[in-house]
Amino acid sequence: MDHFAEPYRIKVVEPINLISREEREKRIREAHFNIFNLKSQDVFVDLLTDSGTSAMSDNQWAGMMLGDEAYAQCRNYQHFEETLRDVFGFKYFIPVHQGRVAENLLFSTILKPGDYVINNTHFDTTRANTMHKGGIPIDLICKEARDPHAKFPFKGNMDVAKLEDFIREKGAGKIPACFMTLTNNSCGGQPVSMENIKAVSAVLKRFEIPFYFDCARFAENAYFIKTREKGYENKSVKDITREMFSYADGALMSAKKDGLVNMGGFLAVNDGELEQKITNLMILIEGFRTYGGLAGRDLEAIARGIYEALDERYLEFRTKQVAFLGEELIKRGVPIIEPTGGHAVFINAGEFLPHIDKGAFPGQSLVVALYREGGIRCCEIGSIMFETKDANTGTSEYAPYELVRLAVPRRVYTNAHLMHVALCMEKICSYKEKLVGFEFVYEAQYLRHFTMKLREKAAVGAKV
Ligand code: F0G
Repeated sequence: MDHFAEPYRIKVVEPINLISREEREKRIREAHFNIFNLKSQDVFVDLLTDSGTSAMSDNQWAGMMLGDEAYAQCRNYQHFEETLRDVFGFKYFIPVHQGRVAENLLFSTILKPGDYVINNTHFDTTRANTMHKGGIPIDLICKEARDPHAKFPFKGNMDVAKLEDFIREKGAGKIPACFMTLTNNSCGGQPVSMENIKAVSAVLKRFEIPFYFDCARFAENAYFIKTREKGYENKSVKDITREMFSYADGALMSAKKDGLVNMGGFLAVNDGELEQKITNLMILIEGFRTYGGLAGRDLEAIARGIYEALDERYLEFRTKQVAFLGEELIKRGVPIIEPTGGHAVFINAGEFLPHIDKGAFPGQSLVVALYREGGIRCCEIGSIMFETKDANTGTSEYAPYELVRLAVPRRVYTNAHLMHVALCMEKICSYKEKLVGFEFVYEAQYLRHFTMKLREKAAVGAKV
C-alpha cells in the first residue's frame, strides 16, 4: 500500500496508558472475562466500537458554542434540517438521541404482529426492535457474503431473486418495510452497490413496499461505490449519496458513526401522514419534534459532521487505515473477512483457533488474549452473541462464523496504534495453540454478552 497520512493534525490530546501485564491479568479476571466490565482507563487501544467514539473537529466544537437551547424551533434544528435535506433529499427529518430510538418510533408506527421486515442483514437493535413489536426480521444477504475469502467488492448486497420470491410467497401486505443497511455492519462492514440498490428499489416499487436505509455508515458506502463500482469513479461522494437516497422512501441513521458525533441520530420520511404519527409518539417518549432528545449544540455538531464525513480526503484516509490494519494481519497469517470493510476488521477466530470448539467460543478466547497481550479491547461477534437454543430439545444452533470485530473509531487512533494491534496479534500467533475456550458462569436470557460472567476452560492435559 502506498504511504498515506491523516488529512488533519492533532490539536487536543487525551492520554492513554498501557497498564502492566500483571495489572491487566487482574483486571480481566475481576471483569469475569467480560470486556464490557473493563474500565476505560484500563484499556490502551479501544476497538470495541466505532459508534459514538469519533473525535470531533475544531469546526464541530466551534459549532457547539453556537447551541441555541430554545425548547422549540432552535436555530440549530433549522441548520440540521437544511443540511440533511441537502445531503439526503427527504422531506421530513426527525431528530433522535440515537439510532435505536428511530427504529422504535418507526416500528411502533408501521408494524403489526406477524408482519415481516426484510433487510440485507439486520443489526442487533434493528432486529430486536422489530421483534419487540411482534415483527419477524428476515435477512436476505447475497450468496457471495457467505464465503469469508471471496473478494467480491459488494458483499453487503441483497439477494434480489430471493427478495422477489419472498414477497410472492408472503404477500406484500405482510411486509410494511424493506431495509438496506449501509454499510452492512453485521456482515463485516461490507458495502452495497448502486446497482443492487436500484434493483431492490425496482422490485419494491412493483410491489408497493416502502424502502428504507439503515444508513449509519452511508458515507463509507458511497466512497466504496466511487472506488469500486464502474461508472462512479468521476462522481463526487455527495452526488453518489444523493443518487443512493433517491431510490428510498425513508431512512434511519445513528449519527454516532458517519455523523462524526458522540451522540445523535434521525429518522427521515417522505410520507406526511407517517411523519405526523411519529411526531405525536416522539413527544411522548423522546422530546419535542425539533430537538428529539438532543441539545441544540448536538444538532449543530451533527449538521457539521455530516458534511465533514463527505470529505473525500477524509474518506480515502479512513478506508485506507482500516485496510492497512487488515493487510498487516493478513501478512502475519491471521485470517480475516476479505475484503476489509468500512469501519472494522473482522478476524475469523474459528479459522484462527481450530482447536477450540464453537461451544467454547474461540472468538472470546482471542478477545481475552488481545487484552492480556496489549491492553486492546474488541468484541466477539460469534456464538456468544448469536447462539440460539431450542427450548424443547436443549440443542444449540451456533453462529455461522466465530468472528472478532476490531472496530476503528473515526479520527482517533494513528497507524502506530493499529501497528501495536498487529504486533500483538503476531505474538499471539506464536502461542495460539495454548489458548483455551470459555464457559458461562452467568448468562442473561437476552443480549447475554453485555452482562455475562465467564470462566476459562482448563487446557487439554492441564492439571485443574
Ligand atoms: N444500525 C446499525 C447498522 C448500527 O451499526 C447501529 C449501532 C444501530 C443501528 C443502532 O444505533 O447505537 O445509535 O442506537 N451500532 C453500534 C456498533 C452499537 O457497535 O456497531 P445506536
